[in-house]
Amino acid sequence: MTHPWIADRTTTFDNSGIRKIFELAAKLSDPINLSIGQPEFDVPAEVRKACIDAIESRRNGYSPTQGISALREKLQHRVDREYGHADRRVFVSSGTSGGLVLVLLSLVNPGDEVILFDPCFVMYEPLVKLAGGVPVWVDTYPDFRIDVDRVARAISARTKLILFNSPANPTGVTATESEMRVLAHLARDRNIALVSDEVYRAFCYDGPFASPAAHNASTIVIDGFSKSHAMTGWRLGFVHGPSELIDTMLKLQQYTFVCAPQPVQWAGAVAMDVDVGGHVAAYRGKRDRLCDAIGDRYELIRPGGAFYLFPKAPRGTGSQFVARAVDRGLLIIPGNVFSRRDSHFRISYAADDRTIERGIAVLCALAET
Ligand SMILES: Cc1ncc(COP(=O)(O)O)c(C=O)c1O
Repeated sequence: MTHPWIADRTTTFDNSGIRKIFELAAKLSDPINLSIGQPEFDVPAEVRKACIDAIESRRNGYSPTQGISALREKLQHRVDREYGHADRRVFVSSGTSGGLVLVLLSLVNPGDEVILFDPCFVMYEPLVKLAGGVPVWVDTYPDFRIDVDRVARAISARTKLILFNSPANPTGVTATESEMRVLAHLARDRNIALVSDEVYRAFCYDGPFASPAAHNASTIVIDGFSKSHAMTGWRLGFVHGPSELIDTMLKLQQYTFVCAPQPVQWAGAVAMDVDVGGHVAAYRGKRDRLCDAIGDRYELIRPGGAFYLFPKAPRGTGSQFVARAVDRGLLIIPGNVFSRRDSHFRISYAADDRTIERGIAVLCALAET
């Protein structure tokens, strides 16, 4: 029985399945943790120092809603150089998640349909519902690529927005330039908002990152420092898109998040000049090691980015497979946390090499049983 004070809008979705795995983790001693979607490396030293310096120099108050100019202007310069759009403005948000909340609340009316790709990041469906939107699913199994014909068939008179993510969580699949172009043009031609979640853009292993914003100037991009600079707990993100939409999101930011934490914004300005190429190369190596070790034992798509693998459970459901893995101390996430199907499981290789080797040993043993 739900408490009578609790609002209906909170009851249309459940607690994140990832949290349930974290609760399990707390009960295991020395688990092999390949479940966490955050880098195992630390925030770069100069970025930590910039945050401490900002705190010590009393830069601890509210910042302007849109972010401090030292960071915003740097971001704006980068965005202008990359896209050259006449109307593309950037603002600083409280993490990529903060940007996502503001985009959805700014664009989705109750009853509007939002196209989501199955599987996708855990927050998308609850946030669409929170905004009163109706998720419309486009299945991407078995190769997790965007099939634009399927997207076109999912569009109705009520479609407001397509929420897209590449490199993707949980599959690691990275869209090609031509897939991006076709999707971007479809959204443009049907007058549908295209939101591109680019939080993993630094982690592209087999080619340059491609954004749909290069092909559709109305694309709204959400991005952040959580993954690229291991700043998950610092809550720093940014959004760029057409200025009228950005102004609306800023109006909502005034009354919700207010601003991203100011000291962290100063650190973000420094982070923009830090090369994370060494970490990306290390993660490419981790991807290769895992794919080579388990690729012929599991049905899996070799991912081009992010730091996830999404193999098919060899027998039974993804949840049953994960239960067997947890019995052997290996924490991974069942696919049904990200999907309406329960056939796969997610491995995060954002872990040290020893943990990955221990995980490989368990995965190899599980494939035989
Ligand atoms: C696809 C995707 N988008 C957004 C986020 C949230 O990032 P942030 O920490 O910047 O809110 C995550 C985090 O796991 C993610 O996987």
